[in-house]
Amino acid sequence: MKNKEIKIGLLGLGTVGSGVWEILKNNAAAIEERSGIKFQIKKILVHDLKKKRSVDVPASLLTIQPNDILEDPEIDIVVELLGGILPTQNYILKAIESGKEIVTANKALLAEKSEEIFQKAYEKSVSVGFEASVAGGIPIIQSIREGFVGNQIEEMYGIINGTCNYILSEMTSRKADFHSILKEAQEAGYAEANPDFDVKGIDAAQKLSLLTWLAFGVLPHQGVYVEGIEKITPLDIEYAQKLGYVIKLLGITRKQEEGIEARVHPTMVPQDHPLARVNGVFNAVFLKGDAVGEAMFLGRGAGMMPTASAVVSDIIRAGLSRSVLKPVKPVFKSESMISMVSINELHSEYYLRFSVVDKPGVFGQIAGCLGEANIGIAAVYQKENEVDSKIPIVVLTHKTLEKNLKQALEKIEKLEAVLDTPTLIRVLAHSGNK
Ligand SMILES: NC(=O)c1ccc[n+]([C@@H]2O[C@H](COP(=O)([O-])OP(=O)(O)OC[C@H]3O[C@@H](n4cnc5c(N)ncnc54)[C@H](OP(=O)(O)O)[C@@H]3O)[C@@H](O)[C@H]2O)c1
Repeated sequence: MKNKEIKIGLLGLGTVGSGVWEILKNNAAAIEERSGIKFQIKKILVHDLKKKRSVDVPASLLTIQPNDILEDPEIDIVVELLGGILPTQNYILKAIESGKEIVTANKALLAEKSEEIFQKAYEKSVSVGFEASVAGGIPIIQSIREGFVGNQIEEMYGIINGTCNYILSEMTSRKADFHSILKEAQEAGYAEANPDFDVKGIDAAQKLSLLTWLAFGVLPHQGVYVEGIEKITPLDIEYAQKLGYVIKLLGITRKQEEGIEARVHPTMVPQDHPLARVNGVFNAVFLKGDAVGEAMFLGRGAGMMPTASAVVSDIIRAGLSRSVLKPVKPVFKSESMISMVSINELHSEYYLRFSVVDKPGVFGQIAGCLGEANIGIAAVYQKENEVDSKIPIVVLTHKTLEKNLKQALEKIEKLEAVLDTPTLIRVLAHSGNK
């Protein structure tokens, strides 16, 4: 019997779109053998028909008219790899309206508009695959939805922005400052010309929103606390190492009695934690389920072929869903039903660095302010024999409420001997110490 044929409309032939073209061409036989489906790209939407492409695509497949895809009844799957919110959202909604399956890698769009897109897809009985939108080539979304579906997820955290992980890894191994490594990363193509989206933690926050939805049913639109890596200095990295930590930008989502935490910020990761050894552009996601316990996923979080690998897995699942699977009703609990824990209510251990005048009694004043707020000190590190009149004092606290710590820091900042705004980095809670 002849295998079923499924036709694809590709929106976009940039980095990821070109990778999808390559995989579907190079691995066509294996894909057909495994899925029983012959996939064919029928049309590709681009901006500029004259642009030189990195892949060899017949010019007859390219179009600048979205309706050549969205209104073509022969096309079964629309693969959106344009990026951005508009006009992309309208294209996706129109494709759903026409009964087409959707595959997208667009975390920015989904972090904002998932409710509308998934509800519409459910009404029209079509699927929306978005594996590539979080952690690139790592199949984390399907793992949560299928592999761990019998679990209550308790927490998920990880390195979900390769640019930040590359910058922090290089700062650590070469003792270099943020700006020089960022410049190198831009030249090497690991960071965008405008790096804000990555280094300010916005990209990681969009991905964390989707993970929070998958794990706990709530899409935290404004509820993700975000802090980027721009303020991390070689000094903090050096002290972190002395104290047994590595600094990583983590996205953390966790169910607590008070509600759900969703936060992205630089974090002190113990050197013996598996995430501490994840370097360069690699991503890693750590999760804990009530049945499976702890599990970790590691792989490339971006780039042409790893991201396309995830897109193609969604294309094949969409092809199968055309014939066998039925979409599941999406569940979006409102943020008012499940309270989101504000960062001020966080209980954590903290790394604090103070820049102070080198004279006796200063540490005593700082310790006094922390003590008044009932903040216990776990370790202190003070550089000796410093020629400079300004010296750093580093403090690791016991677990404390962030609100109390911030109040104490306000007092400390006002002390005459304290020269700069104190640096605060949260420490990753380790097992048994939540
Ligand atoms: N790159 C990655 O490593 C990566 C990883 C994970 C997720 N993603 C996501 O994947 C999506 C695509 O990313 P990308 O890096 O492949 O983007 P890209 O290289 O900028 O490619 C975008 C493509 O879309 C086309 N395009 C954009 N707007 C259009 C419009 N309004 N009408 C017609 N064509 C339009 C462009 O056409 P022209 O070629 O003619 O300019 C180009 O082919 C984004 O949502 C991104 O967040 C990317």
